[in-house]
Amino acid sequence: MASVAIKERISALREQLEYHNYRYYVLDAPEVSDAEYDRLFRELQALEQQYPELIIPVSPTQRIGGTALTEFTQVTHTTPMLSLNNAFSDDEVVAFDRRVREASDLPTIEYAVEPKFDGLAISLVYENGQLVSGATRGDGYVGEDVTANLRTIRAIPLSLTLANPPARMEIRGEVLMLKSDFAALNRSQREQGLKEFANPRNAAAGSLRQLDSRITATRGLHFFAYGVGQCEGGVLPATHGEVMNQLMVWHMPVAQERAVVQGVDGLLAYYRQMGAARDSLAFDIDGVVYKVNDLALQQRIGYVARAPRFAIAHKFPAQEATTQLLDIDVQVGRTGALTPVARLAPVAVGGVTVTNATLHNEDEIRRKGVLIGDWVNVRRAGDVIPEVVSVVTSRRPQDAREFVMPVVCPVCGSHVVRLPDEAVARCTGGLFCPAQRKQALWHFASRRALDIDGLGEKLIEQLVDAGLVNNPADLYRLGLLSLVNLERMAEKSASNLLAAIEHSKHTTLARFIYALGIRHVGEQTAKDLARYFGKLETMMAADETQLQQVPEVGEVVAKSIVQFFAEPHNLTVISLLRAAGVCWDETVPVSVKHGSIAGKVFVITGALPHIRRDEATAKIEALGGKVSGSVSKKTDFVLVGAEPGSKFIKAQELGITLLDEDQFINLISESNGERDG
Ligand code: IVH
Repeated sequence: MASVAIKERISALREQLEYHNYRYYVLDAPEVSDAEYDRLFRELQALEQQYPELIIPVSPTQRIGGTALTEFTQVTHTTPMLSLNNAFSDDEVVAFDRRVREASDLPTIEYAVEPKFDGLAISLVYENGQLVSGATRGDGYVGEDVTANLRTIRAIPLSLTLANPPARMEIRGEVLMLKSDFAALNRSQREQGLKEFANPRNAAAGSLRQLDSRITATRGLHFFAYGVGQCEGGVLPATHGEVMNQLMVWHMPVAQERAVVQGVDGLLAYYRQMGAARDSLAFDIDGVVYKVNDLALQQRIGYVARAPRFAIAHKFPAQEATTQLLDIDVQVGRTGALTPVARLAPVAVGGVTVTNATLHNEDEIRRKGVLIGDWVNVRRAGDVIPEVVSVVTSRRPQDAREFVMPVVCPVCGSHVVRLPDEAVARCTGGLFCPAQRKQALWHFASRRALDIDGLGEKLIEQLVDAGLVNNPADLYRLGLLSLVNLERMAEKSASNLLAAIEHSKHTTLARFIYALGIRHVGEQTAKDLARYFGKLETMMAADETQLQQVPEVGEVVAKSIVQFFAEPHNLTVISLLRAAGVCWDETVPVSVKHGSIAGKVFVITGALPHIRRDEATAKIEALGGKVSGSVSKKTDFVLVGAEPGSKFIKAQELGITLLDEDQFINLISESNGERDG
């Protein structure tokens, strides 16, 4: 038997936990850390385990869901849950207000105005302040008993905080999913390979209609009350606005975005205000609701058929519409990303006519099961690019066909690749592709790349648009005359720019590699690559395995580099750059600096430009190396001069490290340094 002290502790814990739920889920202003909440929760759980006879349905521990049902029981609503008539234009609102004035004989009407939540209507029954049951709207007369699921929604109070609660009170409102919870849910569905929900409303409906309340508990549903259906054994205030304030005092979540306004002007002003705020709200709304504020007047005005005459919903333009997907085009972005774009039969969405919608990437198309020719649901929220959210499979035409990602870039014809771990397919013609032109030039000229002072985004735009520059090599062909013809380009700044371009010609290999804009090759990787290979040609010839020898270069980076240099268009631009005089000092690659020269076998072929063969031999031997007359597997280095012979070919076949004269001299001086130091 539990002592009085235990019973008091249990009840105090329940009260505290519900208070913290309220702070967190209703006020969005938590008072304690999650850890502290968990501590209280576990203490209560432990006590309830010890004294199971004290467990009650309104205990916060019961919010995590219980046993699964086989079906929902039907419940008949004590007072029917009616629907609202809709207004789609200002004129219809003016007509509504006129009808209300005529029916009430008042010159101006006071209205309570609030968001029209885009969720599911439910009814909650509290007896003596305790939540006893909850049901969906159903057909308005009979709904389904979803009490177990509603208990898991932490914004719904399990007990009302008031001293003398009415004997029985029915509160009505909307269950919905916050946009942030919806995004998180879909992310998790995607990760688990499960079907994503088309919108927060569908996600909320799917989550509330789970037979297993433990699933509902994980979905993070939310609730807003918008009215009281019935109140026995209690007195309610005289206006809707005051009733809502009262609900708030009882810790019932109500929307902050509600107001009381006068006349039709007040209604329309509220409509505009909420329309502007719509996208920044934490939840979806599909319009606003106007209600005569005076409850006695509401009853006098009464109902027509199944809808009240004292209230109306003023709808926003729908953010979703169904239309046919005529084709899928591919757009190339500034970074070379290929985005499939749906060409649609024109349809009004979110107040504008939409003919295109993004499909994001290939995987999205597969995941959503979109075929060309399908009827699709398109969503446009605010200024966001319209997107295809789902397919109406029941309307699929017989000739619907699959989309295939092109293998070459639709803009420049370069190869298209998808790197491991990336959802996006990209054009590899980074330096060449017109779609990527401006971005590539901007990157090439940027401070950490070739550092062309004065060549900013605006100027690049002008140069490209005037057809003067198509790729980085064209920069080195610019003349004063063509520059001064550009808008806002004085002779002085033109010659400054030319000087900066000229100056950029002498750079470092690391900067040059970085400037190429190879995907995944940032400044540091460029430095590592330059240090390792010493020569651009060696790096360009390296395969994936060789590239992965470079510290910090993994599979993704190596693949990206190989793909970049496999694109003939990029090689052309690189040759043009070198021909234009872009140059750098070459260094001894780390890859050949395996210890000193001592013990290494050299072969010399071809004529060296500055040192004689016997000099080279003497230097090698002085440092403890050997010079051999023929290339074999034992050869470590082949020193290659002009017009090399068959030894050069053999060395290449055997994959022996080749050195030119500069690299050889650097290697000698480094080895000297090693010996001296
Ligand atoms: S009042 C008698 N207020 O709209 C009218 N309904 O078509 C009772 N809804 O099923 C409804 N936000 O789910 C009211 N602020 C709001 C609402 C709202 C959304 C939904 C509700 C109802 C439908 C009416």
